[in-house]
Amino acid sequence: MAGTGLVSFHGSAVPPDNFLEDVVAGLSLPQKQLPPKYFYDARGSELFEAICSLPEYYPTRAEISLTRQHIAEIARFAGAGCELIEYGSGASTKSQILIDALAPVAYVPVDISESALRAAAAQLAARFPWLNVRAVVGDFGRPMAIPAFGGPGRKVVYFPGSTIGNLTREEALAFLRMTRGQVGPGGAMLVGVDLKKDPNLLHAAYNDAQGVTARFNLNLLHRVNAELGGDFVVAKFAHYAFYNAPMGRIEMHLASLERQMVNVGRHRFSFAPGESIHTENSCKYSIEEFQALAALGGFCGEKVWQDAEGLFSLHGLVAA
Ligand code: TRP
Repeated sequence: MAGTGLVSFHGSAVPPDNFLEDVVAGLSLPQKQLPPKYFYDARGSELFEAICSLPEYYPTRAEISLTRQHIAEIARFAGAGCELIEYGSGASTKSQILIDALAPVAYVPVDISESALRAAAAQLAARFPWLNVRAVVGDFGRPMAIPAFGGPGRKVVYFPGSTIGNLTREEALAFLRMTRGQVGPGGAMLVGVDLKKDPNLLHAAYNDAQGVTARFNLNLLHRVNAELGGDFVVAKFAHYAFYNAPMGRIEMHLASLERQMVNVGRHRFSFAPGESIHTENSCKYSIEEFQALAALGGFCGEKVWQDAEGLFSLHGLVAA
């Protein structure tokens, strides 16, 4: 643990990722895949912040707008003096709106990118000098130690950005159950969930005209090259994202533009023309679908807020 003033940094007390093992296992499957958590190195986190302000990427704007619009009610729901824990906090932009209104006794941002976490913590310390920030570098996909604050306030987990949509249904359920255990009886959760809508709007959000999402997706191959000695010729792969309606999700892939071989360490992988690496899902839920999932995860849906255009939802869940 290290820090200055009211800001401290903590490890997540779990063994580190095995990037090489995950890449080799993923590229050995019939449908090749790579885990999306590896998007977020320093460059990936920067590109993701750029995605959030793209004209086509409506979720961030819609979520910020609904949060501002309903902030009084959201604050009443969370309860003053709560302990606010955020998973995948990135730049902590949305949480600043909550911190302002909730005045939590502690804020625990958890993110896989240490650089993003350090930049966010510095900003928070400057804007909220009274706030206890206990930053955790970690992967919320695995059980982790959250520094206990031990105050009387309820624990509220904040999970915005429809990050829950990047998990499969089974992973989302496991995550909800883990969180239910973490917040304990009387605890709560605020979850941002992108809604099902016109597939053209969804398609545009993941295929922006400036190609930032493409660079974000392709950055994964640069990372394999730089960190694992891979020899991906990145120009021979294309960003490919589409809405899979029966599955209710955007799928992101990296498609091989020709027949080719790629080496990663001493492993060799072949690609047929058009063959893809599946890099991410972004599941979309109706309000009812998400409430049903939350119930299976041990939460009771108490409140739902939406933006004026009905693009995005924020669910206020309480431990059942
Ligand atoms: N939670 C975000 C989403 O599903 C993550 C995201 C947005 C994303 N755009 C992306 C992930 C592009 C990978 C690529 O919308």
